[in-house]
Amino acid sequence: MLSNAPIPTVINQNLFGLSTSATVTINEKSKLLEQQGKKVFKLGFGQSPFPVPDLVVNALKKHAHEKDYLAVRGLPALREAISNFVNHRKGIRSTPDEVLIGPGSKELMFLLQLSYYGEIVIPAPSWVSYAPQAQIIGRSVTRVGTRISNGLLLMPDELEAICAADPERPRLVILNYPANPTGTTYDQQTLMTMAEVARHYKVIVLSDEIYSELDHKGAHTSIAQFYPEGTIISGGLSKWCGAGGWRLGFFVFPNGLKRLMQAMTICASETFTSTSAPIQYAAVSAFLETPEIEEYLGLVRRSLAVVGSYMRVRLQQAKVEIPQPQGGFYLFPDFGHYRDVLHRRGIATDRDFCRALLDEAGVALLPGSDFGCRESTFSTRLSYVDFNGREVLEACRALPAGREPGDDFVETHCPKIAEATTVLCQWLAGL
Ligand SMILES: Cc1ncc(COP(=O)(O)O)c(C=O)c1O
Repeated sequence: MLSNAPIPTVINQNLFGLSTSATVTINEKSKLLEQQGKKVFKLGFGQSPFPVPDLVVNALKKHAHEKDYLAVRGLPALREAISNFVNHRKGIRSTPDEVLIGPGSKELMFLLQLSYYGEIVIPAPSWVSYAPQAQIIGRSVTRVGTRISNGLLLMPDELEAICAADPERPRLVILNYPANPTGTTYDQQTLMTMAEVARHYKVIVLSDEIYSELDHKGAHTSIAQFYPEGTIISGGLSKWCGAGGWRLGFFVFPNGLKRLMQAMTICASETFTSTSAPIQYAAVSAFLETPEIEEYLGLVRRSLAVVGSYMRVRLQQAKVEIPQPQGGFYLFPDFGHYRDVLHRRGIATDRDFCRALLDEAGVALLPGSDFGCRESTFSTRLSYVDFNGREVLEACRALPAGREPGDDFVETHCPKIAEATTVLCQWLAGL
């Protein structure tokens, strides 16, 4: 006789302790406050504010009728375009058959962690999804604390120390530069030293270069140049092309890691099958390095550079510690200077801090603990994207030749950024 008990739902224990991230919570709260008529400065969500370049949108329209499943590894023309793109931009010698396309690089990272058996090494802070992916799959993660003097990036001597403690252990280190959440990046010398360490211990490097085209100076260098045999490059359309919702990412493998690519291809074929056909056809046009794309990227970089440094300078004047942003659209402000006064107000963690800032000043930031920092450090991630990207691109294009956008550009064309900066500094002053 069957009982009336509910259908048992036995959840995979690896999922215990994971929850939807604070990003979602902050977004929901921001929406609620807006519905109540409050002005909210949305500096929490990490999405490009810029439109997808017209050239790429037109290519998508042209290919909307493409309806067939494509090869698991991706459209040959796109794999060729990406291979040429990375060879030219990152100084390597890949071939199209070393390129794997996926519905976002995040999905490919998940399949990599699933296919590879070894320890995952990541810095703290680092992007929100690396560690939960490892947890879901059951891989062990070593988080390495970072220093502000190193731009909050993992340093070669720190990787060396981990490897030396257990030299034979298979390892995958994930390096993300320009970085989310810090906006910082590596210089060439550090990458060369890191490459030596990785080579010595046969560490696989997953080089997450999703923000590489948004290096503010257009001067990104990849570790693949110095460690070609052990580096997998990860990239996609989401950040530099403003197309996060299109879901297109890629990995480029070194020839010696073809077995890993093959294993991931099997997982891909048994899960997502292939990436959306119209999106892949359209993406070819994004990777062809045409003058339109170069112009678009030039405008995007100049705009981001000025907005990032505008906010940083003002927050530094308010005693907030922030590494210099070098790429992407993030700052990582540390409000530790205000620790005592915050404690007196009963604000003991970065989460309490973000909640109070949103409630009292309408400024939405994400707590650093979402990125692996200790809750008590009062570090936060700030995305300086609360502006109209289309208008900003037009304004930047209209600047007289040779004139770089300055503070007045931000105040005129990114008014919410300027206002958010003032509101945040005033809130700190009134604590
Ligand atoms: C550092 C980093 N890596 C990877 C991704 C994943 O990008 P996508 O899956 O859209 O390619 C993101 C997106 O936020 C990111 O910030």
